[in-house]
Amino acid sequence: MAALPLFVTGCGGGGSSSSPPQTGVTPPLVPAGPSLPPLPSGAIRTAYAGQFAVGAALKPSEVISGSEAAALVADQFSSVTAENIMKPEALAPTPGNYNFGQADEMVDFAVANGMEVRGHTLLWHRATPDYFFEGTPAEVRARLETYIFDVVTHFKDRVQHWDVVNEVVADGGGGTAPYRDSNWYRAAGGPNYIDWAFNAARAADPNAKLFINEYSTEFAGKRDRMLGVVQDLLARGIPIDGVGHQMHINRTLSAQNAFDALQAVDNLFAGLVNHITELDISIYSDPGSCFVNGTGCADDIGDALPASWRRQQAQLYRDLFNGFLTFPSLLSVSLWGLTDDGSWLNTWPVTRTNYPLLFDRDGAPKPAAFAITDPTYEIQ
Ligand code: G3I
Repeated sequence: MAALPLFVTGCGGGGSSSSPPQTGVTPPLVPAGPSLPPLPSGAIRTAYAGQFAVGAALKPSEVISGSEAAALVADQFSSVTAENIMKPEALAPTPGNYNFGQADEMVDFAVANGMEVRGHTLLWHRATPDYFFEGTPAEVRARLETYIFDVVTHFKDRVQHWDVVNEVVADGGGGTAPYRDSNWYRAAGGPNYIDWAFNAARAADPNAKLFINEYSTEFAGKRDRMLGVVQDLLARGIPIDGVGHQMHINRTLSAQNAFDALQAVDNLFAGLVNHITELDISIYSDPGSCFVNGTGCADDIGDALPASWRRQQAQLYRDLFNGFLTFPSLLSVSLWGLTDDGSWLNTWPVTRTNYPLLFDRDGAPKPAAFAITDPTYEIQ
């Protein structure tokens, strides 16, 4: 919430400010929105207690003791994910040299506040130094196993869930599908690296729950490829406990798509747990080309968020969380960020102002936050 001064309040006339008029400066606009009371203490985490944990992906600045952000997190959430600082490039920037400082601070914050931690992520084709991919497949394997064993051991008993592999599934058919044609696939000489990763994590901490984490599981094609990979792992006795559905969606998606993803995992009857790991709801509805090459993306609306979009987003959050309650296999739902200004969606797939989360740029609760915590709240 470092950007608190971004918005001024009370514009629209009638103000009694004694500040001198600022000539030639256009003050930032307050996004049109209903005036809302504070969110009751603990509203989000207690609304779903006993069903699933509710988490947020955090930056180091959001767990600094005494900060507004840390107070908000501790009050409202029951799980923490490090947005970036537990990725390989952060934990092991050079071979054999671990850099656990910031991650330890975040994990210790979670433990001190009685929160769960989702470790994200032990293996990804991004955010990983090049040295991980050097040498023969045997060398790549030994390095990966050592890294995973060391990291999981370091956080043993403090991190309950690990995204062991992230985004290993192909976006389409052909080629290496169902596996992504990635630096990992090429360095290992095939998909065996997935087995190596899960086995190393299990060896380090038999109690941690181990996940495959994937995006677009709300769509049948990607989902089916992911399920094929999971079934193969299960059939060969690779230790996998659950499926993480990232769930980066937009306000026009039907909630049913998300439920289909959870149901598909249940339909395997393998006892797997479901987690929603990176939920956010973009207010932009884009064509596929926007995500492939950044073309055709919806125009930046800046501060002019249409009220109908805000309502649609809040309703979708409500529909999702209501439906989530009907899945006993769903044990964790995490938002990918805390406040709208900190979201990755302000710079991806193009730079534009987005409003995807539950708290606004002032750290104040949005209609979506009330929609998922108060059944009597009429979405405005
Ligand atoms: O911290 C540096 C800063 O010092 C530097 O000045 C700046 C210049 O680019 O970069 C900063 O690092 C950026 C980092 O985010 C922190 O803001 C990296 O460039 C940028 O690549 C990184 O992006 C993250 C991305 O993963 C890649 O690791 C996003 O914040 C993060 O939200 C995103 O998260 C992923 C999940 O891990 C997996 N699922 C998809 C999701 C969204 O892409």
